This record gives sequence, structure tokens and C-alpha cells, in this order.
Amino acid sequence: MTPLNDYRSFKDLPPLAGVADFEQAASPGLSVQECVNRLKRYHYGLQRVWQTCLARLTAEPIYEIKMGLSHHTHLAAEHIGAIRARVAEMRHPPLGLDAVPDPYLECCFDEILNAPTSYALIAGLYGKGLSAILEGMNHHLEDTNLLVDSPSVRILKHAIIEIEGMIEWGEATGAALKNEASEEHVAEVAVWLGELDQRLAAAGGLDGIQVAVTSQVPGPRYSKAAFVYDSDPKRDERFQDPYNMGVHAEVFLHEDRFADRDKVLMMYYRRLREIDVPEMMASILYEMVQAKGDEESGGYPWKFHQEMTRQLWDEARHAMMGEVGFAKLGIDWSKLVRINFTWSKGLNEQLTPKERHAVLWYIEQGQMSKMGKRYEWEVGRDSGDHFAELIQDYDWADEVLHARIGRDWYVEGFEDVAKAAAYGTKCWDKGVSGWEQWKSEGLTEHYNWWPDLYAEACRLRGETPDKETAAYDTSYADTRADLERISGASG
Ligand SMILES: [Fe+2]
Ligand SMILES: [Fe+2]
Ligand SMILES: [Fe+2]
Repeated sequence: MTPLNDYRSFKDLPPLAGVADFEQAASPGLSVQECVNRLKRYHYGLQRVWQTCLARLTAEPIYEIKMGLSHHTHLAAEHIGAIRARVAEMRHPPLGLDAVPDPYLECCFDEILNAPTSYALIAGLYGKGLSAILEGMNHHLEDTNLLVDSPSVRILKHAIIEIEGMIEWGEATGAALKNEASEEHVAEVAVWLGELDQRLAAAGGLDGIQVAVTSQVPGPRYSKAAFVYDSDPKRDERFQDPYNMGVHAEVFLHEDRFADRDKVLMMYYRRLREIDVPEMMASILYEMVQAKGDEESGGYPWKFHQEMTRQLWDEARHAMMGEVGFAKLGIDWSKLVRINFTWSKGLNEQLTPKERHAVLWYIEQGQMSKMGKRYEWEVGRDSGDHFAELIQDYDWADEVLHARIGRDWYVEGFEDVAKAAAYGTKCWDKGVSGWEQWKSEGLTEHYNWWPDLYAEACRLRGETPDKETAAYDTSYADTRADLERISGASG
């Protein structure tokens, strides 16, 4: 019996604000230094998850995986931000957050980054990397004093909820990819996953609290050579004709003679086409970090990466809003709509990360005019399609946020907005559009897909197509370049 057994709260009310019972609150727990050491290891793991998602999402062809990686890079960034703030509360700088805590952990995550297929990537990243982070965080909740370390407990509980969701997605995705993979590859990946376990064991677990087993650490399998970043966007087979710029959505949207509910089809197209923004933003973020643009070496502070990653996720959400819009109407977008990748491909190939950021901000500030996002929301509202109104409402709100992010991180580097805009236009000019060239090289015919899409929408509505609407035939080649510049790209 200890004095604690006799102690009671007033009228037996729940004690200690509900964060712990007396026994837990009186336990030894982790010291501040032990707590910080562990947090820094979760931070390292999440940094590698964040970077791996960024590094792989552009060249990942499967749309669902690209979207999943876009989501999870954002979640990782949010938890990284929370952990960094917590470590900064407990220790004076330098915090050493960019240090590698253990070479075996580094090697484990290097292997995952270099995974040769989508299946291996998902199996390694979620089945091993994130699972090890989750395990460490759960240990932390068991080992720490829930009262004295309550601020860490809070951020870890939130992280655990989301990491569990990420792992669940990873398991389901991995299972589906495994069915499609060859027996040999599945067998090889199984051996490799065992090797990742050995590396984690050699590091004493992700949190470093187990006894390190370094007797049987295998050599690298996939990371013998340094990772080569591929910024060339890839798409799966549903994205046929990816150079097609045969339908000018923005000109259609702004023509008074067309009906709002037909314009909704173009807005769904424009939303789904936003898949190219995560493809481009991932390359900005990944390449900036690789250029040692981190905080400790005088680069952007972490908040920049966190906000840009949030924006990346918003753009992926907008693409999925468009997908849902088509699905809700019963329209098979993969057959009737050509979602091109010319914007992300051109920018990633031809511009530096800073120049890409300039173009992105330039386009987004252009969407803040009356004829930009407000107009699209009005079209949604007046169309009678409540879903279109809903998504445009959020698309607008998100894009206002993005313009703010651009002001804070991009425009800040210029004397004034006019100079920032001039640089944005100049950078856009550098990204040469190859409309004619792609055609002459046989990459696309710039086929006008609008009449078929419109005919199908009319058939589903049980209506006869309007002749003038059906005859819409304006491509991005026929349009003045400055209009194309401002509204012909992603929004
Ligand atoms: Fe945006
Ligand atoms: Fe958008
Ligand atoms: Fe956007």
C-alpha cells in the first residue's frame, strides 16, 4: 500500500483533468531528454515518409496511388510540424532536427525510397516505415508520464489516429497490387521486407529503445546506387492522349451563349485536370529539399514546406472532386475526357523550382479576379447541380488560401507584387507550349472530345443536344497566348 491508494479526489470526481489516473501520473515516465530523443526519431521517420511521398508521386502512374501519396505527404508534414514545435518547447536551439539519428534507419528509408515498383514502395513504406513509427509512438504513450508529458501525448494521439488510417490504406492498396504482381516479384519483395525488419532491429527499432541487433544486417538491395529523382509525370491507362489540348475549357466557361449546367462538365474537367498541380508541386518541394534548402542551412523554414504540402493536397482533392462529379453524373471520364499532363510535364522539364513556384503563384493570383474562382462558383450555384456548387465553393476557398501562401512565401522575395508578377509571366514564357510540335511528332491529334462528352451528358439527361453547344470547337492553339497563360492552366 502506498499513500496514493488512500488519496481521493474531491467527491471522487474524475481527477487530474482526465489525462491520467493517480498511478499513471505518479509513474517515473520519460525524462525530457528521453522524450526529446524519441520525438526526434519519429520526426526523422516522418520526414522520410514526407520526402518519399513527394519523390514518388509525380512518376507514379496509378491515379489512386498518386492521390494517396498526396494525402499522406500532407499528413506527414502536419505531424512533422507538431513534433518540431514540441521539441522546440523543450530544448534550446540548435535542435538538431535535421540530423540522422541512426545510420540503419537511414538505410531502411533509403531502401524504401528506391523501391523498384509501386507494390514494393507501398509494402515497404506503409508495412514497415509507417508501422515502425506507429509502434514507436505507441511505446511512447505506454512509457511516458501522461500528466507531465501531456503536450507530447496529445500530438502523438493525433498522429496515431492518422497513421493508422494511412497504414490501413497502404495495406489495402498493397494487397491489390500484390494480386497484379508476378510471383517472382512478390517473393523478392517478401525477402526485402524481412531485410527492412533487420535494419530496424539494428537501429533498436524506430524509437531506438530496443536492444540493437546488428549481427545480421543485410547489405543494400535497392539503394546501392543513389536515388534518381524522376520528375516526369506518369499516368495510368485511363489517361489516354495525355498531350491533348484540343478543348479550351476556359473559353467555353466564359461564353454567355452556353448553359451553366453544360459549363459544369467543363468545370469537372478543370478540377480533374488539377492532378497536374501535385505533380508539379511535389517537384518544387522535393528538389528544394535536395538542394539543401532546409532551415538549418539557411533555406525556407519548415512552415514553408508544411504550407506548400497542404496546398499540394488541396490540389489533389480538387482533382478528386472532379472525378466524383463525373462519376455522380454517370459519365466515364476515362473514355470521354482527355486529361492532359502537358502543364506539369513542361514546367518540371523546363523550369527551376523557384520558376515553377512563380508560375504557380501567377496563375493562382489570376484566379482571384471576379472572372476566376468566384465566377466558377456562380456557375455551379446557377447550374442546379448542387454538387458543382459545393465543390466550387471549397475550390474557391482553397485557392484563396493558396494565393495567400504564394504571397507569404513567393511575393515576399520581391520588392512589390508587380515585380513578382513580372517574374511569374517571364517564367511562364520560358515554359514553351508545344501544341504544334506534339501534333507533328504524332503525340496527339488534339482531338476535340467535347461533342462526345456533351452528347453523353444529354443522353443521360434524356435531352436532345443543342446544336451550337455540340459544335464547340476551340482548342488551346487558337487562343491568344495571354488568355491561355492566365486561365488555360490548372486552377
Ligand atoms: Fe491552388
Ligand atoms: Fe482548384
Ligand atoms: Fe488548383
